[in-house]
Amino acid sequence: MTDSLPRHVAIIMDGNGRWAKGRNLPRIAGHRAGVDTVRKIVRACGKKGIDVLTLFAFSSENWRRPQREVTLLMELFVRALQQEVKNLNKNNVRLRMIGDLTALPPKLQELIKNSEELTKNNSGLTLVIAANYGGRWDMTQAVQQIAQKVAAGEMMPEETSPDIIQQHLCISDLPEPDLFIRTGGEQRISNYLLWQLAYTELYFTEKLWPEFDDDDFDAALASFGSRQRRFGRTGEQVENA
Ligand code: IPE
Ligand code: IPE
Ligand code: MG
Repeated sequence: MTDSLPRHVAIIMDGNGRWAKGRNLPRIAGHRAGVDTVRKIVRACGKKGIDVLTLFAFSSENWRRPQREVTLLMELFVRALQQEVKNLNKNNVRLRMIGDLTALPPKLQELIKNSEELTKNNSGLTLVIAANYGGRWDMTQAVQQIAQKVAAGEMMPEETSPDIIQQHLCISDLPEPDLFIRTGGEQRISNYLLWQLAYTELYFTEKLWPEFDDDDFDAALASFGSRQRRFGRTGEQVENA
């Protein structure tokens, strides 16, 4: 039993569209309702003293959605950032964005830069938002950086190691996720933090993201607390450590 709090929680916020559909609302209404859940869970993490919360907001595959939904999502993103960043700053939250941000609307890129700058010295929760992020993209950009160093003669090819790869990935300065939560009932990773999830405890719930609440979050944390993380060792070794 770890019976402890995760330092880093990574969430796939899924089920917004189905939540809206169930209410005969347009899908974007589900995304809007999802922003309220984000606010709630960020607050809960701050209160509990969790160090890092990483949220999957838009995957590198989500561009395949109808153009209209993508546009509305980007607009919602802009509005949510504009509305929330002051409050995040007041609550000592440090905001970080990961993903290929260059493909996002310029206005959003500007907002992201300003929000990160405003909150960079905060010492409370680190809130990482993954936008146009994909685990394969992350690994690819890491390999590119390493290849460039080799080509420039700064590094030998055989110096490449898991540690070196890790150091070139997004959020390499943060602890790896201890707990992964996916709402919405699907049991898949959907190209999220592929490398970083190697030893993360996985938790899936049927609850749709807009209806995921503090009690559901507590249930996920309780599940995490009841698990024994062995990292390849035996249970006895872990118990006697
Ligand atoms: C997750 O909810 C939010 C994003 C991917 C942006 P979905 O929009 O995927 O909701 P469902 O899966 O269609 O219900
Ligand atoms: C994953 O959800 C991405 C986000 C939550 C941003 P999707 O709903 O896009 O995942 P798939 O396509 O069903 O696997
Ligand atoms: Mg979905």
